[in-house]
Amino acid sequence: MALLSGCVCRYPLGMSGGQIQDEDISASSQWSESTAARYGRLDFEEGDGAWCPEIPVEPDNVKEFLQIDLRSLHFITLVGTQGRHAGGIGNEFAQMYKIKYSRDGSRWISWRNRQGKQVIEGNRNAYDIVLKDLEPPIIARFVRFMPVTDHSMNVCMRVELYGCEWLDGLVSYNAPVGEQMNLPAYPAYLNDSVYDGAVIYRYVCGLGQLTDGMCGLDDFTLSHLYNVWPGYDYVGWKNESFPTGFVEIMFEFDRIRNFTTMKVHCNNMYSSHVKIFHQVVCYFRSDSDWETTPLSFSPVVDETPSARFITVSLANHMASAIKCQFYFADAWMLFSEITFQSGIPSLPVPFPEDDPTHKVDDSNTRILIGCLVAIIFILVGIIVIILWRQVWQKMLEKASRRMLDDELTASLSIQSETFAYNHNHNQSSTISEQESNTAYEHIFPLGPDYQEPSRLICKLPEFSQSSDEPAASKSTTTTVVQDGVPHYAEADIVNLQGVTGSNTYAIPAVTMDLLSGKDVAVEEFPRKLLTFKEKLGEGQFGEVHLCEAEGMQEFMNNEFFFDISEDQPVLVAVKMLRSDANKNARNDFLKEIKIMSRLKDPNIIRLLAVCIYSDPLCMITEYMENGDLNQFLSRHEPEGHLALLSNAPTVSFNNLCYMATQIASGMKYLSSLNFVHRDLATRNCLVGKNYTIKIADFGMSRNLYSGDYYRIQGRAVLPIRWMSWESILLGKFTTASDVWAFGVTLWEILNFCKEQPYSQLTDEQVIENTGEFFRDQKRQIYLPQPVLCPDSLYKIMLSCWRRNTKERPSFQEIHRALLDIQP
Ligand code: ADE
Repeated sequence: MALLSGCVCRYPLGMSGGQIQDEDISASSQWSESTAARYGRLDFEEGDGAWCPEIPVEPDNVKEFLQIDLRSLHFITLVGTQGRHAGGIGNEFAQMYKIKYSRDGSRWISWRNRQGKQVIEGNRNAYDIVLKDLEPPIIARFVRFMPVTDHSMNVCMRVELYGCEWLDGLVSYNAPVGEQMNLPAYPAYLNDSVYDGAVIYRYVCGLGQLTDGMCGLDDFTLSHLYNVWPGYDYVGWKNESFPTGFVEIMFEFDRIRNFTTMKVHCNNMYSSHVKIFHQVVCYFRSDSDWETTPLSFSPVVDETPSARFITVSLANHMASAIKCQFYFADAWMLFSEITFQSGIPSLPVPFPEDDPTHKVDDSNTRILIGCLVAIIFILVGIIVIILWRQVWQKMLEKASRRMLDDELTASLSIQSETFAYNHNHNQSSTISEQESNTAYEHIFPLGPDYQEPSRLICKLPEFSQSSDEPAASKSTTTTVVQDGVPHYAEADIVNLQGVTGSNTYAIPAVTMDLLSGKDVAVEEFPRKLLTFKEKLGEGQFGEVHLCEAEGMQEFMNNEFFFDISEDQPVLVAVKMLRSDANKNARNDFLKEIKIMSRLKDPNIIRLLAVCIYSDPLCMITEYMENGDLNQFLSRHEPEGHLALLSNAPTVSFNNLCYMATQIASGMKYLSSLNFVHRDLATRNCLVGKNYTIKIADFGMSRNLYSGDYYRIQGRAVLPIRWMSWESILLGKFTTASDVWAFGVTLWEILNFCKEQPYSQLTDEQVIENTGEFFRDQKRQIYLPQPVLCPDSLYKIMLSCWRRNTKERPSFQEIHRALLDIQP
């Protein structure tokens, strides 16, 4: 795929060169006059050396910003940041930041990368400049840099924007939503995945893939070669969805312009029934009314399978908006870029050149009002459709009830298999089944809804934040009978993440019995022997600190820290409950201690001691010096030429396998206790010396990984990209769903955590794909085989994602298979 403007459009826009005026640089606040916004210029050492906000930046409150007004629309492809060095006096910098941008100064859009992540990694010291490509690029007049931290800290920034002026002047396009093409092997998603406006049946008031400077390939199905989804670069529509025979796209511009040409980059892979348009009819609007005589153009349609730009002459029409109807020449029409060439008329100039603020604001107010009216119309349309559907649904319901009853019975038998293990062991399994059936009915309300999983998610059982009365605790499960491990009849759901998050684990009833006992297999540690070193992380209910612990050796078995001498302080991680935490959080914290104190495995993070005699309550766990596996692998590269050239640290394939094997081993242990983790992912594994791995759980509230969780309004936060179809659609978490998550974790590892799973799919598309796993009509999309991944490993992944839970391997089998793969 070709990058049109990204390679050439990388000029510094004037923070370091001074072309951006001081008055165009502003900020949310400033620490002092000498750290005002105007000192936030990259590579400048004036004032106190950078812009610094008034107060320390808090992790859960990203609100401070440094704002640049570029005075006109720009195509921004790269950003640079630096901290405050001030000749060695300063040492403040932003380790992470987000970017917001606006074209009109009133609607602000959060920038996200193509994987949907907002947070950009920033500086590691106060002096080096760190440049980051913006993928996708931004078209904006105003840009805000917003420092992000994982703990409360002072941050200062110097910045630069790189790009070029956006001469098209286009501020938004409005088009029907792109569709999905079902190819023989896999579907091509022809949606506009980076559109930054509203998406309500149409793309409204934003810009996206059609203006991102990337031209699609001749063969649109091959985009996976570039690590993106088939059809990624194209927005496409199918003829049969448009009874008029055309797709209408409306373009809004920043001012009245004199248009010479429009260039449309179209695919023409006729063998897949894709062709360029056979005619385009364009209408122009300069003031409030559309001109009545349109312009029409018919390109020559051929059968050469090359994607190309079609140039449409716009005959010097004057307009601030253009509406074009593109007529289908075949079953599909796929566009990847649309650009406009225009001049700005010298007379009459609608907005005086010497008053740029007025210029942008006035023209944009009109556009904004237009957009709002469009959104209102669409919303009214949606309400009518919903009402109509409800009436229709009621009629259908009766007719389909019997049919769906049959289908439901079939699908229920799939769920029952989870309970099949100990059917004959006790009666409670029968009860379990009945309860679960209720859950199914809750989700499949015997209506046609069941075919659309994206809507089903709204019907998931409530997940309570509190462990005292978790809604999900009513769900039950039974376990595999393991040698030496008792049979468990039911599993209560216990909130194990009091401090770092609000994760919910399923704990077998027997473990719960232990909880009610007095004996907690962990000792009180004198808190005065802990010396704070640094903050490792923070969650909803508290913080995790790195501490030195004196005399910890007495609290540890010899099995760990064999390399630590008797009288040296030991480094430990101390998880601390916020002193203002409520009763529920406190209870959860104590339960977590009780549960963790029972978990003893070399690949599970170990609880060493606690401080619970006085507040704040603390849990002391082993410290893993290399942090979490996601960050660890993101910092590393596979062995090979590329790593040699870039001098990046590497991890060998053998060590990747070694780490995966340890995760499987830890999970084997948890599953032997019928312990369901529910959030297995690389972000929840810690790395110690020599590639040792221990499974932990940090809950779901860490800022860094907020993009990995899907928030159902007012309800649960779910790691949907790691979740099995039955967990998403049925709220059912079992060891088999942990196995599914293990498959995804393995995929992350083989990709060196460089990409989020299903990065080309939006959260809604991930849920739709889950529906395909449920329907099992070969339309489900599997994560692709990573480049580094041998077939034998990919086979393990695929087996973890089998639709039928019974057919997925156990952790014991996975562990064995991984040991066999390791050379
Ligand atoms: N962050 C949270 N807990 C940790 C631990 N035990 N080791 C290292 N980093 C951590």
